[in-house]
Amino acid sequence: MIDFKKIRRGFSHIRAKKLPDDMFINLLRSLVTGEGMLHVGNPYLIDYALKNMPNNGCVVEIGSYGGLSTSLILHLLKKNNRTEKLFNCDPWIYGGVKDTYTESCMIDGSDTITCSSFAEYMKNNFMRSMKFLNAENLPHSFHLTSDAFFEKYEQKIKIKDLFERDIQLGDPISFAYIDGDHSYEYAKRDFENVNKHLVKSGFVLFDDSIDGSHFGSALFMKEMKKNKNYKFVSKNPNYLFQKIV
Ligand SMILES: C[S@@+](CC[C@H](N)C(=O)[O-])C[C@H]1O[C@@H](n2cnc3c(N)ncnc32)[C@H](O)[C@@H]1O
Repeated sequence: MIDFKKIRRGFSHIRAKKLPDDMFINLLRSLVTGEGMLHVGNPYLIDYALKNMPNNGCVVEIGSYGGLSTSLILHLLKKNNRTEKLFNCDPWIYGGVKDTYTESCMIDGSDTITCSSFAEYMKNNFMRSMKFLNAENLPHSFHLTSDAFFEKYEQKIKIKDLFERDIQLGDPISFAYIDGDHSYEYAKRDFENVNKHLVKSGFVLFDDSIDGSHFGSALFMKEMKKNKNYKFVSKNPNYLFQKIV
């Protein structure tokens, strides 16, 4: 049977605008775990947002996995001479083909690897890749769901990040990359939480928001397109919006 989804995905990769060749970005996919986690069009959109974001805020990433997009954002911040801090969160929840995961569940196709050991493994991968690739410029990372992260963000508390540094949460946000739980409810709530802190002219990029995708994050784009406080900037093929009020 012809897999039209696969064909559509293939075309979206070919058609996406790409950044001019950057050897570090080319190498990055083979240096971290999760090379398939980043759509080839996202670096272009992330670069656009980082270049054009207002300079009175920070960058927030929801969903870090093995650190591919985190390292990309840190690299592009530096390349664009931006000194904004990067905050990110991930509970390292195993997300496979099943719907629900418990602490004691097994990852898909295995009867020996538990979802909780996966979480530990992926968190370690993330931390190792950060220390290896970004030792001079570590992000402020938190082992938290986005809900728990924003709860603390609201309270503007002082907290230790994963790298044992004290940091105050609650800065205004200039750019947010939403790539955590891709259900409709979570994508919407992540956006609402970001929106509370996003400064005027700040950007928000939704991963897995490609037209026709089965993800709830893609479904949420219908609402984003009607949101009068946001301007549609581009889809490449994931959606980038800018706050206008
Ligand atoms: C698609 S991966 C992120 C990929 C990453 N941005 C990259 O480029 O490598 C999604 C991540 O979201 C995390 N996640 C799942 N539920 C979450 C939640 N409620 N809040 C924050 N992150 C969540 C998962 O643990 C997983 O690591």
